[in-house]
Amino acid sequence: MLQRPRRNRKSEVIRQMVQETHVSAANLIFPLFIVDGTFQKTEVASMPGIYRYSIDNLLREIESCLKLGLNSFDLFPNVDESLKDQFATESYREQSLYLRAIREVKKNFPEACVVTDVAMDPYSSDGHDGIVKDGVILNDETLEILGKMALAHAQCGADIIAPSDMMDGRVGYIRGVLDENGFTNVSIMSYSAKYASAFYGPFRDALNSAPKFGDKKTYQMNPANQREALIEANLDEQEGADFLMVKPALPYLDVIKLIKDNTELPVAAYNVSGEYAMIKAAIQKGWLNEQRAITEVLTSIKRAGATAILTYHAKEVLENKWL
Ligand code: PBG
Repeated sequence: MLQRPRRNRKSEVIRQMVQETHVSAANLIFPLFIVDGTFQKTEVASMPGIYRYSIDNLLREIESCLKLGLNSFDLFPNVDESLKDQFATESYREQSLYLRAIREVKKNFPEACVVTDVAMDPYSSDGHDGIVKDGVILNDETLEILGKMALAHAQCGADIIAPSDMMDGRVGYIRGVLDENGFTNVSIMSYSAKYASAFYGPFRDALNSAPKFGDKKTYQMNPANQREALIEANLDEQEGADFLMVKPALPYLDVIKLIKDNTELPVAAYNVSGEYAMIKAAIQKGWLNEQRAITEVLTSIKRAGATAILTYHAKEVLENKWL
């Protein structure tokens, strides 16, 4: 045998020498859930180790992440049911929990990279990402609200706006609103290929944001489709996106790879709540080795082609020095 591939695996030093993929703190974005009040830190039942923080505790949490070299955060609000309405007006109210949180984070930690989520669902009495009329999710009417939301985030200091709603044309619309208002430096990380997935369940528990009727299949993508992801990615690129995201991550590694091969833009992947819940449940049962399972997951997502990884594991992998 001339070729014996095992020679390059024979010692730890050689294995590390030939390792093709490395995940580092710089690649990670940590999603954080916010609730109203003070001194709040409530665990999400389906996401052990993940909490909803009131703003005071959010600042403490971010400070401890920054010390670990974790510098990017994606914020999501748990909005009181009484503040929700059909048009998600709470999403751009100046004193809303979410806008106050963005301002506080940027005031205290100007060096942190704050990613903000643009979509109606946490603020919508219908629990959908768009305006609902007679059971139908309206597209163009929703864009106006998304534009107001994105502008409000930019005014509070958001570094990256991440539209997760899947309305057609929203990247171009938001880019236009940002530019007209002088926010040409605010980036857009588009949820380009966002699938109608079962794996968002724990997230909807965290935010109490599940749709009040029906499902999200008229706007989120069919899990069976790969080529359609290219249509979405190409449009978002033409409309001015700075990052293209695939979501969820693990069941869609082929889509990450496909988009990576068809764009020069950085690709992001969202290792979503259900993926986290699945791993944690198995670990709690003693069925998986925690460190090995989690680092393998993150490495696989990177290997598939994602440069930025949104993951609830971000802090623990750095705290435990697993990378
Ligand atoms: C909603 C949104 C969702 C997630 C991020 N933004 C859920 C949904 O579309 O219902 C899911 C993230 C996760 O599961 O971790 N705009």
